[in-house]
Amino acid sequence: MHTHPMALISKNSARKDRLSPDEVRIIQSICEDMGNNPLRMMDILLRTQDQFRCISPQAMEVIAAATGLSRIAVEGVASFYAFFSSEPKGRVTIRLCDDIIDRFAGLGEVAAAFEKALSIKVGETTDDGAFSLEYTPCIGLCDQAPAAMINDLVVTRLTPESVRELIASLQAGARPEDVLLDRFDERTPYERATRMVANNIRHAGAVLLGPVPMDAGLAAAVETGPAQIIRTLEESGLRGCGGAGFPTGRKWRAAAETEADRRVVICNADEGEPGTFKDRVLLTERPHLVFEGMTIAARAINATEGIIYLRGEYVYLRDLLEEVLEERRARGLLGQGIMGVDGFDFDIRLQLGAGAYICGEEGALISSCEGLPGEPKTRPPFPVTRGYLGLPTVVNNVETLCHAARILDRGAKWFSDMGTEGSNGTKLFSVSGDCLNPGIYELPYGLTVEELLEMVGADDAAAVLVGGPSGTMIARDTFHRRLTFDDLATGGAIVVFNGERNILEVVEYYMSFFVHESCGYCTPCRVGNVFLQRAIGKFRKGLANPTDIDYLRDLSDTIIETSRCGLGMTSPNPILSTLENFPLVYSAMVKPSTDRTRATFDIQSAIDSARKLAKRRSHIYDRDFTK
Ligand SMILES: Cc1cc2nc3c(=O)[nH]c(=O)nc-3n(C[C@H](O)[C@H](O)[C@H](O)COP(=O)(O)O)c2cc1C
Ligand code: SF4
Repeated sequence: MHTHPMALISKNSARKDRLSPDEVRIIQSICEDMGNNPLRMMDILLRTQDQFRCISPQAMEVIAAATGLSRIAVEGVASFYAFFSSEPKGRVTIRLCDDIIDRFAGLGEVAAAFEKALSIKVGETTDDGAFSLEYTPCIGLCDQAPAAMINDLVVTRLTPESVRELIASLQAGARPEDVLLDRFDERTPYERATRMVANNIRHAGAVLLGPVPMDAGLAAAVETGPAQIIRTLEESGLRGCGGAGFPTGRKWRAAAETEADRRVVICNADEGEPGTFKDRVLLTERPHLVFEGMTIAARAINATEGIIYLRGEYVYLRDLLEEVLEERRARGLLGQGIMGVDGFDFDIRLQLGAGAYICGEEGALISSCEGLPGEPKTRPPFPVTRGYLGLPTVVNNVETLCHAARILDRGAKWFSDMGTEGSNGTKLFSVSGDCLNPGIYELPYGLTVEELLEMVGADDAAAVLVGGPSGTMIARDTFHRRLTFDDLATGGAIVVFNGERNILEVVEYYMSFFVHESCGYCTPCRVGNVFLQRAIGKFRKGLANPTDIDYLRDLSDTIIETSRCGLGMTSPNPILSTLENFPLVYSAMVKPSTDRTRATFDIQSAIDSARKLAKRRSHIYDRDFTK
């Protein structure tokens, strides 16, 4: 039985952390706005966090009572996401992007300037509760680093001088909105987004970033009907742009052919892979196309419900996307009888995330949409047969959905004539790091890395990370390789490193990213990555033995083989690809050893210390959607 929320007030009235009756009512009304529905737990928690700058144990009690869950279940969700906190955050919360690109772009000096101006360290809140300062992993602004989130807004290209000015204005009482943007209140959501963040579109291709006629794909989809939509997509050869490259037509067919009364379309706008920011630009410049693609998917599989899962770091795009959704409803492009077709009913809700990279993995994303901690689900069953609430669900990346809409307009052949066999069409590449022109490039598949480096102005590139840390790091002698699914597959991230960069520093950073982002469910991923990171630290200090190279390989193989989801299965890639392509980097740091004893990996005895390092708890489910 749950504690009645009012009991929290009368009992223990001397406790400082007690909620006032007004506070209880505010939380209850937040829950009511969400229909007291546990499926909307993310929204309830996001709004509670916004309102009180924390989700206190007492607030969790009130939420639990309102939604009919146990407090421990609410806490299981609240404690999973980095943007939720049980301790009060500052009225202005500054989240500095701690990506390696930001570090190389001067994050150290920027962080020091923040610390000095606020008289606190990163990780602290000022005594008056005005400011919190913290680090957060890649926020999708690597083309304009160093960058930071300031509450729900973002600021880019920070310098120590700009930090001093920013903090002085905020300390003088200005709102972040007014400091970051002149005439904030008068501007449209699109103006706000594009004035805070540059799109940096360096090359527009024929499919996505060139001229796009409004809803021509949807009109064609309505004309041709569901079966032909799926055939067209199959013929086009379109493959998923979120990383795995699964054929989109085949995915839609599987969902359409699964017996069900209700089906769901989810757009994956979680874009958390460090170095990837292409979806940010599509969401800003092509939001209608994204929703058009979702609506076409709904037509193809006969779905009535759509969700766009927007990563918490892109909250600054929320108003823009909500405005576009409203506009589409008003124009009869969402809602009942879309485009005048009887029975074509479909609408989309926006689900905001709260700072968890793992929520990009489709099972974890579905869990998060269901109001649960973002933990991946066991596969099979795959979402196309049993996804959101157990319903057949198509999950597609933002870019994939945009491609689908364009293919419906221009035809399968038009698309498949671009690119190479097996990798049809164009791809958006997010290029960052040591190059003159970081930004977005829409290019046909099949380009070599060399050709791309020439376009982006990266003459002195020594290493290129293709596909982000879960992808492959290649060296100069293989820059002739092609950007295709069969050679160098990528969800879109291309990160360039020049000869001055320390490869092991980069590898250690990415391993720390995976340690931080592991959901903690499987031991090999939760513990093994901590060990890999430590081992790389040993190499960096020149303390590694020759046998440590085998240790890195063996442990990596174990993690890949025994992890439950794609995070664990790809987390050792920064190590494996650099061992293969930069062997000297490792051998140069090995000290000749008289002790030939092989380092052993005792996973059980290591669990406790590793858990502390990973700072993740195991999470408790007590929900059953079948009831
Ligand atoms: C750890 C992890 C993170 C992921 N992050 C994303 C992401 O941010 N965006 C995305 O579209 N897919 C991401 N994926 C892939 C999704 O699970 C899924 O394959 C994809 O959304 C399917 O869409 P597509 O077929 O259009 O590519 C991620 C996968 C893993 C394992
Ligand atoms: S592999 Fe890692 S991220 Fe994936 S379920 Fe296991 S612990 Fe979680």
